Amino acid sequence: MNNKQLVSLMDQMTLDEKIGQLMQLATPFYKGSANQGQITGPMVGMGINDDVVRNSGSVLGASGANEVISIQQAHISENRLGIPLLVMSDIVHGYKTIFPVPLAIGCSWDLELAEKSAEIAAKEAAVSGVHVTFAPMVDLVRDPRWGRVMESTGEDSYLNSQFAKAQVRGFQGSDLTNDYDRVASCVKHFAAYGAPEGGRDYNTVNMSERELRDSYLPAYKAALDAGSEMVMTAFNTVDGIPATGNKQLMRDLLRDEWNFDGVIISDWGAVKELIPHGVAENEKEAALKALTAGVDIEMMTACYVKNLKELVDNGDIEEELLNESVLRILQLKQKLGLFDNPYRGANEQLEKDIVMSEAHRQVSRELASKSAVLLKNDDVLPLQKEQKVALIGPFADNNDILGPWSWLGSKDEAITMNEGLKMKVNASNFTVSKGCDIETSDDRQLTEALQVAKDADVVVLALGEDSEMSGEAGSLTDIRLPQVQLDLIRKVKELDKPMVSVLFNGRPLDLHGVMEHSNAVLEAWYPGTEGGAAIADLIFGDANPSGKLTMSFPYSVGQVPVYYNNFNTGRPKGAPDAQERYVSQYLDSPNEPLFPFGYGLSYTTFTYNNARLSAAEMTADRPITMKVSVKNTGNTAGEETVQLYIRDLVGEVVRPLKELKGFVKIHLQPEEEKEVTFTISEEELRYHHANLEFSSDPGKFIAYIGSNSRDVQAIPFELLK
Ligand code: GLC
Repeated sequence: MNNKQLVSLMDQMTLDEKIGQLMQLATPFYKGSANQGQITGPMVGMGINDDVVRNSGSVLGASGANEVISIQQAHISENRLGIPLLVMSDIVHGYKTIFPVPLAIGCSWDLELAEKSAEIAAKEAAVSGVHVTFAPMVDLVRDPRWGRVMESTGEDSYLNSQFAKAQVRGFQGSDLTNDYDRVASCVKHFAAYGAPEGGRDYNTVNMSERELRDSYLPAYKAALDAGSEMVMTAFNTVDGIPATGNKQLMRDLLRDEWNFDGVIISDWGAVKELIPHGVAENEKEAALKALTAGVDIEMMTACYVKNLKELVDNGDIEEELLNESVLRILQLKQKLGLFDNPYRGANEQLEKDIVMSEAHRQVSRELASKSAVLLKNDDVLPLQKEQKVALIGPFADNNDILGPWSWLGSKDEAITMNEGLKMKVNASNFTVSKGCDIETSDDRQLTEALQVAKDADVVVLALGEDSEMSGEAGSLTDIRLPQVQLDLIRKVKELDKPMVSVLFNGRPLDLHGVMEHSNAVLEAWYPGTEGGAAIADLIFGDANPSGKLTMSFPYSVGQVPVYYNNFNTGRPKGAPDAQERYVSQYLDSPNEPLFPFGYGLSYTTFTYNNARLSAAEMTADRPITMKVSVKNTGNTAGEETVQLYIRDLVGEVVRPLKELKGFVKIHLQPEEEKEVTFTISEEELRYHHANLEFSSDPGKFIAYIGSNSRDVQAIPFELLK
């Protein structure tokens, strides 16, 4: 249908039917769903009757070709005009083949593989009947107390923007209408959900519009520039106004400034939450505020369906405003081809053929091995297959390695560390003994594990957080490993054996009690379906670690927020003329994090040689280049991510000590050397001035090149008028 026909369809709709299109319900409300009628928790008391279901526009959480076809068939027959449902689900880092959590994928710095993982997720979701995924989540994060840092690609807006584009490309492809192997994406959570005070989920977000535009907004814009079809609003306030009722964010910025004409959906219940936020007295006012501010679809509360008719009849809301939302929703259905084929890609046979296919699992295994970050290695890794290994810890044989937002994944089909090692070494060469659970222990477990460790040549400790300790509403004030695991490490250390700690977690941790006792530390994150196989590949050297942190690891939670692109302050510690005491510092901790953004070791070593700029001065018309020769000086092939940072020495407002402006991944054989070139153009030097103008200033800059945000070579240059 063309737009005229869609308008004509809308003109046939009653007011109730129009309002119904703005309602998104979960599957228990729908005939044909596996959990039909199981109305529990927040769904009880929503006041949803059959008419509302019949007129609703989209369903949340349906999956499986059979279930989706059944729901859609029933809906089309019951909806007076036969308008199909949009089927939306959270496919964040895989559908059933689960990839590492996005924070891990970010640490791969591998945009192609990230795009590939999103494409596979889209393929598996599309044949299973899904039309739209609530991803990518691109919230910038600087606070590991927040449980959802696992869902972001990290603390840098440039890198997050690159990953946002890669994921949208992977999910949507280039022809969403005809390519039934793809799904529409919904970038979230708009905006700045990753900056809650205290790292406490859903908490207040307070920041200037300038900081919002410089740091937090670029990745959403990048996703929209890549064509993301939808935006999901965040739970939090921005400058005192809940994002879900924030006209400045949705109408002024998204619609008018960024020209976004796709569909905006609230997060779960966020429309009704305008009441506890204290900006709406009741559901009627919440409906008025949310629709006026720009929310097209209300997810899982019923303020719209219960109040919009009265608001329109009373003239409090122009029907035209409602029509705009209805038309956007119909246009998305049209773009997805649902009026021609309401079942789109749902196909039970294809589902059986491709979901969790070996090919998909191999990509997950590759991405997991590229996402892990080697934090320490005193020459104990890689292990030799002849060594007698004690595999100890709560993650020694634990399939809870998919991480949050993997609700369609199958833990039972995940490869644990135990199964991964079995693929590498003879059973006689390694013994598994848990030693303790995630947060509890008993003497028998501990005694048995210590005996196993005594009999081994090397101990691999598999440690970490339960996946429930991360993710939504998973905020922590203490980001150390649970005490029982720290006790286990200490007890094993007394045996004086080489110790490798492998961490399964969703956030940067305070590694006190881990680093000092371990001879090697490998951050595995939640590595997904093939996690144990990928980690075994790494610890036995069949893969060489290449991951680089995209979120700083603090010494302790007391440093939080700590991130690489911070400001110098007026009393920088360590400045030549700095006083001993009266500088910006802690009395009990360094200022810098334990591990900085961009940090990660390899089994080989790389040297950076002959770093040079093509000129010491540039203009807007005459960019310059940075070249550097990188050599693999070790005896193992490996991948290095060469990073370019820039510092603006004097701005109209304070400028970060450095900002990531480019990176290149290169693979080098032993003794191989490659030259890497970056172009530095005037665009890269722009920032938001006090008046929010986005522009550059002539003046002095420093270009930094290196293997992370700390260990860099500095070369000055100047931007001339
Ligand atoms: C949740 C999350 C959001 C998700 C939505 C639907 O509350 O905040 O990311 O897409 O509900 O499951």
